Amino acid sequence: MSNSVTVRLGHENYMSNYSQFPISIKSGKGMILTDEDGKEYLDFVAGIAVNALGYGDEDERKALLSVIEEGVLHTSNLYYNSHAVNAAVALNKLAGSKEVFFCNSGAEANEAALKMARKRGSEKGKSEIISFQHSFHGRTYGAITVTGQEKYHKGFAPMLPGVVYADYNDLDSVKALMNEKTAAVIVEPLQGEGGIIPATEEFLAGLRDLCDSHDALLIFDEVQCGMGRTGKPFCFQNYAVKPDIMTLAKALGGGLPMGAAVAFERAAGIFAPGDHAATFGGNVAAAALAEVVLSKLPRLSEEVAVRGRYLHDKLEDLISKHPDKAIEARGMGFMQGLDLKIPPRDVIAKCMEKGLLVCSAGYTVLRFVPPLIATEDDIDRAVSIVDSALSEL
Ligand SMILES: Cc1ncc(COP(=O)(O)O)c(C=O)c1O
Repeated sequence: MSNSVTVRLGHENYMSNYSQFPISIKSGKGMILTDEDGKEYLDFVAGIAVNALGYGDEDERKALLSVIEEGVLHTSNLYYNSHAVNAAVALNKLAGSKEVFFCNSGAEANEAALKMARKRGSEKGKSEIISFQHSFHGRTYGAITVTGQEKYHKGFAPMLPGVVYADYNDLDSVKALMNEKTAAVIVEPLQGEGGIIPATEEFLAGLRDLCDSHDALLIFDEVQCGMGRTGKPFCFQNYAVKPDIMTLAKALGGGLPMGAAVAFERAAGIFAPGDHAATFGGNVAAAALAEVVLSKLPRLSEEVAVRGRYLHDKLEDLISKHPDKAIEARGMGFMQGLDLKIPPRDVIAKCMEKGLLVCSAGYTVLRFVPPLIATEDDIDRAVSIVDSALSEL
């Protein structure tokens, strides 16, 4: 097929919930994607912060092939499978956590975390959840409710009861909402969809103290910022603060759908048999890829810390060059945003024409979330394409 045929058929047969760019991705190698018409793109989107190892990773290929040869892609959770167990062991070791629940997406991971918070609070009269303005936690009902952005609620009322919204990086606004009924605080340590906004050290430390003093759980949504993206295996490891629950997805399954709710000491032992489940959670094929990604995380995240600073500095240079169009570079590691004065979609379309994939975050931010294997050369190439796109707009 070609881009135009696939795009037309997609348009005719899909629901209209996405506004998609008119290309169809066919293959990939390393940092490069190729569409159905044979055009190549340097990829700084990574399937929205998913494809940590880029495309065609040899270890991922071997892991998947060996699962296919064993003949079992899925077992259900009636039984154990060694790939999912190994992934849980690796996660607990890397994070210093106690227990893992596997599911299939970020929204599902957050649903699990919210249910854990309410279950724990149920005997103590605690059911309220505090979340934050500009947050994003997914599209299921619990997840959109804790998403502090009106646009995701519009048309879908009523939301889940018992959710209140504080201001990000503003501890006083949290104090004003916290009380004996608070079951949990859910927060992205680096807000993604809201516009690439890092939490301050004092803010996260303050949340930790408030949760401790009010016997509430602290949930870090690391669906986007986890898994090596910020230069540590997990974003919280950049701070002197540990959550009680961490949620993961995106890069965890190496391109296959996989999410996880990860419980630390205080949140261990909440679920009992029958409390929660996901048919596909810990799916053999996804877990086999998770084992590969997790095994590479310590080394990869160290490299991301160095190259992320390089990317950030290059974005600062772009601001000096285009002060009328770009105003601020923010982020950590390979989760960087360039705040623009012009619509990000125009820049994205221009970059795509020139062979670079980038995406947006919030209304004004150009987002850079490349595969974690991106080199300085890849960064130079990407930034020079954005530079030339900004010059032409
Ligand atoms: C921080 C965060 N949480 C949750 C989600 C939802 O993940 P999923 O689309 O896998 O349900 C996202 C997706 O972008 C996210 O960025």
